[in-house]
Amino acid sequence: MKAIILAGGSGTRLYPVTLAINKHFLPIYNKPMIYYPLSLVMLLGIRDILFIVKPEDLADFQKLLKNGSHLGINIQYQIQKKPNGLAEGLVLAEDFIGDDNICYMLGDNIFFGHDLVKIMDEARQEIEKNGGAYVFGYYVKDPERFGIVELDDQGNVISLEEKPKKPKSNFAVVGMYFYDNEALEIAKNVKPSDRGELEITSVNEEYLRRGKLKVKLLGRGFAWFDAGTHDSFLEAGEFVATIEKRTGLMIGCIEEIAFRNGWITREQLLELTKPLRKTEYGRYLCEIVKSEE
Ligand code: TTP
Repeated sequence: MKAIILAGGSGTRLYPVTLAINKHFLPIYNKPMIYYPLSLVMLLGIRDILFIVKPEDLADFQKLLKNGSHLGINIQYQIQKKPNGLAEGLVLAEDFIGDDNICYMLGDNIFFGHDLVKIMDEARQEIEKNGGAYVFGYYVKDPERFGIVELDDQGNVISLEEKPKKPKSNFAVVGMYFYDNEALEIAKNVKPSDRGELEITSVNEEYLRRGKLKVKLLGRGFAWFDAGTHDSFLEAGEFVATIEKRTGLMIGCIEEIAFRNGWITREQLLELTKPLRKTEYGRYLCEIVKSEE
């Protein structure tokens, strides 16, 4: 399975903050927003990762994440000329994906919870084995802001709706999707919605029509943030700070994950700590290096 992380978009809900900077570089507490989705993909053991980026941001992404070899992964970039919608990333990623299955993740989504990786890995395995699409629902109090999934008593999907005025449920479809290779062909046939975007909900609807859409609800023990508004951005940062200070363990620390996955050596990790030494982040990594001596 290969991963695509969407890091383009216009970021208008964070204006004026994002007038001159892409939101994915902004700090969620102590690290750039983009570290969080990247870390989840890495925790799933996926090493081939494509970032969808705006032309003007490519150089900054390359500065931050390079080609991924320092983390033992393969990072590539694909330019999206205009923010035409979430489904366009699939169309643009055709060459990168080839015949593979797809882990599709939004660059401003942050997840935390017990067994999160296990649950997502089960979804991954289900797609690798049986194909189809796998998405996750999360109870929210403001469903009008999201893609919404309606379920019957047995947990089967009845309908999907993008930002409905009168939502049929409170379950938002979160920004982590697993697809088989058919998603590429499905995305190509998606037509722009009333708001002029190629919606990822349209891709999911097509899987639903084909009887191949699975949904799992993430329960109360999970935290999910779409850090794309001023409030959710702040809340996500406060959440990460609270958990990290309480536990002494970091969320979304890509260097740690690369090391614990066995993708980089202790010496490589030590090298990565050098420019970070004045920060708690760097000290945290140094502690990991020391504890493995
Ligand atoms: P959104 O938050 O839906 O859109 P946006 O980032 O453009 O922000 P706003 O609504 O405030 O204008 O996007 C979800 C994620 O997908 C986000 O990380 C940006 C990314 N994205 C793309 O990469 N390409 C796109 O065409 C769109 C719409 C979003």
